[in-house]
Amino acid sequence: CGTVFSGIQPTGIPHLGNYLGAFSNWVKLQNDASSQSQLIFSIVGWHALTLPQNPKELLHSRHDMLAALISVGLDPSKVIIFHQDQNPDHVELAWILSCITPIGKLRRMTTWKARLAASRNANAESEVDESMLNTGLFTYPILQAADILAYRANLVPVGEDQQQHLELSRDIADTFNRTYHTDLFPLPQHIITPSKRILSLKDPTSKMSKSAVDVQSRILLTDEYPQIRSKIRAAVTDSIAGITYDPAGRPGTSNLLTILAGCTDTNVSDVAKRYETKGHGQLKADVVEAVEELLKAPRTEFNKLRGETKYLASVSESGLGKARSISQRTLAEVRRLIGLSRMP
Ligand code: TYM
Repeated sequence: CGTVFSGIQPTGIPHLGNYLGAFSNWVKLQNDASSQSQLIFSIVGWHALTLPQNPKELLHSRHDMLAALISVGLDPSKVIIFHQDQNPDHVELAWILSCITPIGKLRRMTTWKARLAASRNANAESEVDESMLNTGLFTYPILQAADILAYRANLVPVGEDQQQHLELSRDIADTFNRTYHTDLFPLPQHIITPSKRILSLKDPTSKMSKSAVDVQSRILLTDEYPQIRSKIRAAVTDSIAGITYDPAGRPGTSNLLTILAGCTDTNVSDVAKRYETKGHGQLKADVVEAVEELLKAPRTEFNKLRGETKYLASVSESGLGKARSISQRTLAEVRRLIGLSRMP
């Protein structure tokens, strides 16, 4: 019971990592008949702005992401789906929370450290320091905390890469509660997705990501069977005979096992046992079929829904209304607690 909140950036067509790391869990939570929870899923346009975006593409991606969420099985009559960037309560709360969040805590975020390192590598000659990076990139985790806390959500289903941001959200909620002598905010808990982290098919030391340059490194929701087959066949593995699950020693092979386990909703060690005496060829062939089986129906639905502009607009409008009616109550209480109530 309680409120479940999660979000995704509209920075392109979602990939298999988003699907196995987030969507599949969101749909499971929705279909759990015994649950009385309120489920809220948001397309976080403001987060997308932390990196340069082409405005036209961003507009398309926002629209596509809404179509994607419905096509993977989220039902707008059961859950709230809305665009974060249409609810100003998030930014208001983010500002308030930024005033109680020390800079040092943001500097410890691995996503920030990675961005800083990437920008140093890209500008090897010049001295790059953090003063040259955008403030939004730095304060992004506070906005994420505001997304969650605006709904007083207590459960957040995300992939493993978001774990540290979740810890910070808990920390910020706790600081707010202690500073203003309240228990307004529950401390949001991470719901672990069984297939935690799907890795790049080309560089299995990094996660599968929408922003990686090599398009062969990810499988998209729109990929047809031939593309899925060629990407999986070309996936980087190793030359060790037999199949074992060893994420540190054999990241590429283990990633294929994780994908197969995720697609078939089975335990990765059980899958690994079945392949002990088989080779990479067989494993890859089976992964291709499993991914196709998983994506076939959502892909067809997505291609159909993308064109249904009126329907999508009505879903987003009604989701926004429901979301705001919750976040406005939280914000009224926050304003009262901090001494900025509208009523004297
Ligand atoms: P984003 O848009 O990068 O990813 C959306 C969801 O997909 C998961 N994910 C993965 N899972 C497994 N393997 C991968 N390779 C992989 N890549 C992405 C992510 O863990 C995530 O669950 N900051 C968030 C968005 C956000 C948010 C929030 C999430 C903003 N506010 C509030 C939860 C609650 C992000 O950039 O996710």
